[in-house]
Amino acid sequence: MNRPDHTAPLPLLLVGVHGHGRSHLRALLPLAKAGTIRLVGVCDRRPPVPGDDLEGHGEVPYFDDLATALKRTRARLTVLVTPIHTHLPLATVALEHGSHLLLEKPTTPSLAQLTLLEDAVQASGLACQIGFQSLGSEAIDEVHRLVGEGALGTLRGIGAAGAWKRTSAYYDRAPWAGRRRMDGHEVVDGALTNPFAHAVATSLALARAESGAPSSLELEMYHAHPIESDDTSSLRLRTEEGTTLTVAVTLCAPDSRPPAITLHGDRADLTLEYTLDRLTLHQPGQEPRTTTHGRVNLMENLVAHVREGVPLLVPPERTRGFTHVLDAVRTAPDPRPVTAEHQEVYRQEGVTHRSISGIEPLVHESARSLALFSELGAPWARPAPTNTEVPQ
Ligand SMILES: NC(=O)c1ccc[n+]([C@@H]2O[C@H](COP(=O)([O-])OP(=O)(O)OC[C@H]3O[C@@H](n4cnc5c(N)ncnc54)[C@H](O)[C@@H]3O)[C@@H](O)[C@H]2O)c1
Repeated sequence: MNRPDHTAPLPLLLVGVHGHGRSHLRALLPLAKAGTIRLVGVCDRRPPVPGDDLEGHGEVPYFDDLATALKRTRARLTVLVTPIHTHLPLATVALEHGSHLLLEKPTTPSLAQLTLLEDAVQASGLACQIGFQSLGSEAIDEVHRLVGEGALGTLRGIGAAGAWKRTSAYYDRAPWAGRRRMDGHEVVDGALTNPFAHAVATSLALARAESGAPSSLELEMYHAHPIESDDTSSLRLRTEEGTTLTVAVTLCAPDSRPPAITLHGDRADLTLEYTLDRLTLHQPGQEPRTTTHGRVNLMENLVAHVREGVPLLVPPERTRGFTHVLDAVRTAPDPRPVTAEHQEVYRQEGVTHRSISGIEPLVHESARSLALFSELGAPWARPAPTNTEVPQ
C-alpha cells in the first residue's frame, strides 16, 4: 500500500552547494535518514566535483539553473544558501514554482526587497523560513519569562558583544565577501549584517522588537581589513517601546569567543550566549546561575508547518527589525579605516590576520555601558555620522 502523502519524505532541493550549503547538507542527513525529507537535487553555478557524495546523501541530479531544477525535481522544499544579493530573485523563482523555502539570512539586502519578498510569499500561499537559527532557541522564551516575572527588576538596556577572528581567507573565499554593493546590486556584507546578524536579530528578539522599526539608531562602522564594508562596528538603537540596545562587534579579534548579549536590570543581569543557547543570571551577592536550553531546528519547524500547520518560527516579517538595521548600514557613509598603528598584523601561509589593539575589552565595555566606540575613547573611533531618527 502506498504511504499517504503527508508522511512521504518531502522532496528537497539545495541551492548553493560549495559554501555554507555543506552545513545544511550535514544537518539534513538525519532528516533524510528519518524519511522526513529526500534530497532530490542540488543547484549551483558550479557543479559538485566528481565523486562528491554531498555529505552522505549520495549522488543526486545537478542543475545550473533554478527554474529547470524545480521543474525537473518537483521539489516541495527549497533551501537557498547563496550570496545575499541573489536571495530575492532566487526566492521568487522558487515560490513561482510552488516550493516552500528555507532562505538563509540576511533575508534581503534592503527593506524594499524585504517588502517584495513578503508580498511574494503572501501571494504564493507558501511558507518561507529565514535561516536565523538562533531565533529557534528556547533560551529566548526563558529570558522573556525571567524578565516578565521581574527577576531583573527594571531594564536599563541590552548590550551585545561579539569578537571573532576572521582572516583575509574569509574575504578571499567569494567575490561578494566584504562588499557593500557589486555589479549594480546591493550586497551589504558587513560585520553587523552578516557574520553577526544573529547578534542583532537575537538582541531585537530579546527586546521583543524583531518585527518593528527602531525609533532611533546610531551607527559607527570601521574596517581594519582592506575591504569595502565594515569588520568592526558599534550600533545603538532605541526600540519602539523605548529600550536601549547596543551591539558592538569585530572580526578583528585575537581569537574567537562566543558572542554574548546582556540584559541589564537594576536587580540582576542576564547574559545569553546565543551560539550555545546558554543563559547566565548574575544577581548581586550570589553565585552566577547558568542554564543551557534547547533549540528548535528551523528545517524541522518548516516541515511541521507545511504538514501540520505548526506556527513558523522565523517568517520574513520577524526579520523586519533586523532589516531596518541592515538598511541603516546600507545607506550609511562608507566605514572609516582603522589605521596600521592600531593593528597587530600576522601573516602566515598567504593569510593575513589583523587584530585591532584592545578590541576585545572594548566590545565588552560597550555591551556593559551601552556606549559607542567613540564614546569609550577608542583612538581610531569618531562620533557616529549617522545619528538618525528612523522614519516610521
Ligand atoms: N545561518 C548561518 O549561520 C550562516 C552561516 C554562513 C553563511 N550564511 C548565509 O548563507 C548564504 C551563502 O553564504 P556562503 O558563505 O556559503 O557563500 P559562498 O559564496 O561561499 O557560497 C555560495 C554558493 O552559492 C553558489 N551560487 C552563487 N550564485 C548562485 C546562483 N545564482 N544560483 C545558484 N548558486 C549560486 C556559489 O557558486 C556557491 O557555491 C549567505 O546568505 C550567508 O549569509 C548563513
